[in-house]
Amino acid sequence: MYVIAHLSDPHLDGTEEARARLRQITSYVRSSTVDVVLATGDLADHGLPEEYVEVARELTFDVPTLVLPGNHDVSHPFRALVSAPGEGHPVNQLHDVGPARFLLVDSTVEGKDHGYLTEETLGWLESSLNEPFDGPIFLAMHHPPFELHHPVMDQWKLENPDALAKILTAKPVTAVLTGHVHNAITSTFAGHPVLGAPGIRSTVPLPFESTQNTLADPHAHPGLAFHLHTPGEPLQTIYRYPH
Ligand SMILES: [Fe+2]
Ligand SMILES: [Fe+2]
Repeated sequence: MYVIAHLSDPHLDGTEEARARLRQITSYVRSSTVDVVLATGDLADHGLPEEYVEVARELTFDVPTLVLPGNHDVSHPFRALVSAPGEGHPVNQLHDVGPARFLLVDSTVEGKDHGYLTEETLGWLESSLNEPFDGPIFLAMHHPPFELHHPVMDQWKLENPDALAKILTAKPVTAVLTGHVHNAITSTFAGHPVLGAPGIRSTVPLPFESTQNTLADPHAHPGLAFHLHTPGEPLQTIYRYPH
């Protein structure tokens, strides 16, 4: 069994509160046996260089660790974090870890909160998916490719999901792994599972359930997703909120 520990949105900002919430997750991951750790963005809250020093220190595991940017991340220090040459967005990455391939898609727009996939990103993704690969392929990006049905979060949605659907339809993608909406969410897109990790820094209640009318509940327990891949079987996902 191949195990992906998928965490998202720690929003590290130098505060003990943010650090402690992330450490509840990272300590649980370190005590588990996993093959790879994936963090789907909003690693730093303000994108400051000193926040990335903290990100690098806190997201250290004895297995390969993959990170991609969210709308709170800033390209220059993020590129330094992942040793990506060049400047600006997008920062798209392909990593093979054991039998699995990870296509880490940059859905962010510098200085904005919504998501958008540039022509460069779409072209890169299409050519990457056209490469023959004998193993599970995970596409990971910060913004889910659909609305949350939340009046504030949907202002910050991915704005061109149709362009992505054209590329993903009928492609051998095992799952699309996302963050950003600070909710454990499962859905489908272009015929593929979409699996979102809980928000570590906070949880966003939906209008139908909220009695407090707040955008983000900073007290909801942090969590993560474990995606379990066994050859010849459907992917399984376990959501865990360790105490
Ligand atoms: Fe976030
Ligand atoms: Fe975000």
